[in-house]
Amino acid sequence: MQELEIIKPDDWHVHFREGSILKAVVPETSRHFARAIVMPNLSPPILEGADASIYQKEIMDAIPENDEFSPFMTLYLTENTNCKNLEDSFKNGLIFAAKLYPAGATTNSDSGVKNIKNIMPILEKMSEIGMPLLIHGEVTNKEIDIFDREKVFIENNLEFLCKELPDLKITLEHITTKDAVSYIKQGNKNLAASITPHHLALNRNSIFLNGIKPHNYCLPILKREVHRKALVEAAISGNSKFFLGTDTAPHFKKDKESECGCAGVFNATYCMSILAEIFDQNKSLNNIERFTSLNGSNHYSLQPNSKKIKLVKRTYPINFMDRIEVEKDSIVVFKPDFPVFWEIV
Ligand code: NCD
Ligand code: ZN
Repeated sequence: MQELEIIKPDDWHVHFREGSILKAVVPETSRHFARAIVMPNLSPPILEGADASIYQKEIMDAIPENDEFSPFMTLYLTENTNCKNLEDSFKNGLIFAAKLYPAGATTNSDSGVKNIKNIMPILEKMSEIGMPLLIHGEVTNKEIDIFDREKVFIENNLEFLCKELPDLKITLEHITTKDAVSYIKQGNKNLAASITPHHLALNRNSIFLNGIKPHNYCLPILKREVHRKALVEAAISGNSKFFLGTDTAPHFKKDKESECGCAGVFNATYCMSILAEIFDQNKSLNNIERFTSLNGSNHYSLQPNSKKIKLVKRTYPINFMDRIEVEKDSIVVFKPDFPVFWEIV
């Protein structure tokens, strides 16, 4: 049996939703993670500090008694974002970061930003006050092939933002391509990227394996194997510009398995086990702590957590649970297509 103790991880990108789903999924994250950045793409989205405060309370109420967990709240940027409210909410500690969704890029992003140039005054203010910008980095122009949307966003938008606002702390979230990896590596010190476990575990074939697999459909969409390999290399390298943001995104099974199924993979439950397996397969367990517990807090100028968790390698693979029951439906739990021997104790 192999054992490894690491600093307790943080998840720098989660979707908790609301109501019954929130109650069901918050414990799946609070069990293994000390802190998480909570996405604001509710319907309607979190636009002001007051919305975030109510939402944070709902999350706090769903944390099991024995878990010590802090949700960090975000605002959803629109072309009408109230700059004064954003500044005040950041300065009084209610809001940790703001999220840029290009309009129409993903789940509940209709009121996102159509033209980044229209929010430059807000981004300038964020740069001035040291507030991080989180980016869903995909263009939404339907003429651009879905597999190229991240690459084109980097060329058309991110490059511009980094040049205009070199002091703005930017996270390019859930990166999926070798192009993103190389852009981040050569980018300025305020630019970093998060990576999800499913983009490390799967390539785009998994969406079409003996038929269509809606539970492997997420945005940005899974890419070719060459891209998955580049992501794995970035994650296992220990490079401080890459860290974990799971993008755990629960949806009801019926909404995934529908005529127009929604994007999102619910991966919170076995995330750390899957990552340990991937790092182990790549003989890089010595760097898992950097990826899950150090690089993110460093990017966000926070101290690492003081608690630790233990990873244990069993001689038999984990028996994954299939789903979490919620109301009269369920949320399908992400599992990779390889056996996972690591457990968190
Ligand atoms: C996310 C969701 O369901 O809210 N879906 C996804 O596929 N990742 C939104 C997002 O982060 O893009
Ligand atoms: Zn997300």
